Amino acid sequence: MITKRPRRNRYNEVIRSMVQETALELNDFIFPLFIIEGENQKVEVASMPGINRYSVDTLLDEVASCVDLGIKAFAPFPSIPENLKDKYARESANPDGLFPRAIREIKKNFPDVVLMTDVAMDPYSSDGHDGIVINGEIVNDETLEVLGNMALTQAQAGADIVGPSDMMDGRVGYIRRVLDENGFHKVGIMSYTAKYASAFYGPFRDALDSAPKMGDKKTYQMNPANSREALIEAALDTEEGADYLMVKPALAYLDIIKLLRDNSHLPIAAYNVSGEYAMVKAAGLKGWIDGEKAMLESLLSIKRAGADIILSYFAKDFANYLRK
Ligand code: PBG
Repeated sequence: MITKRPRRNRYNEVIRSMVQETALELNDFIFPLFIIEGENQKVEVASMPGINRYSVDTLLDEVASCVDLGIKAFAPFPSIPENLKDKYARESANPDGLFPRAIREIKKNFPDVVLMTDVAMDPYSSDGHDGIVINGEIVNDETLEVLGNMALTQAQAGADIVGPSDMMDGRVGYIRRVLDENGFHKVGIMSYTAKYASAFYGPFRDALDSAPKMGDKKTYQMNPANSREALIEAALDTEEGADYLMVKPALAYLDIIKLLRDNSHLPIAAYNVSGEYAMVKAAGLKGWIDGEKAMLESLLSIKRAGADIILSYFAKDFANYLRK
């Protein structure tokens, strides 16, 4: 005789939704945006169907259509022309550069949206690395000054939250000090706390033309084999003044999201990265999986693992799905 029957709680749709433990909301999302120079440009990223690179004018239309759908937070990334890149990423501190211009325009037209801006050298670096390269080595402490100036330039342009994605030691504390000394105590820091050296960033590097020119990122991004090390990074970022901790990528690192959730009181963000988007999209377009259902299931799994905030290229698809 079976008396315990878990299937009772799955008996019909109403019961299933009554006992549902996790639900996605549009408020959970930050939508990444790619920006390019020029006018009237909208160029699809070949490895990310449905995701485009926008010049500032068309970007404003894109933000408007997202805002109409209820998306309120964005993570813009600039694609910097090759001739403006150098070893020290100097263009990243140019207040009239593409990125600060785009930030100012978005905030001017949409004062209520939240912008989380990326702090790392790679889009501006002629070496394609997140730090200064000297004799083949990515040097840490010299890089902090570049990151501080970059974060300050973004804050001055109107960024609400800066997101150091470089994985240099001490950068959260350094950036916090620079922001505070310049009166930007309200600008938050969403630290890419546990950022792994991952193969899933490929399409993003296509979008920005930012792949490393030599070597890989393994001396600063984390080894995918490690989880305890994420707790060391989390403790340091917290001590240094991070307002949010991020795990990146998301799907292959759900255990790390859960680990940080269980060990921190800070909001936890997860970055559902370009390669994760590309896999689901590609298989969906080929008809090998139901792309929409696979999207919803993977986003839900990120939330269930403990993420409060999800950065995802699916944000707009999810918003459209809610409208159906
Ligand atoms: C830059 C940066 C990267 C991503 C976000 N910020 C690329 C990298 O570290 O090589 C990847 C995002 C994605 O793949 O969607 N430091």
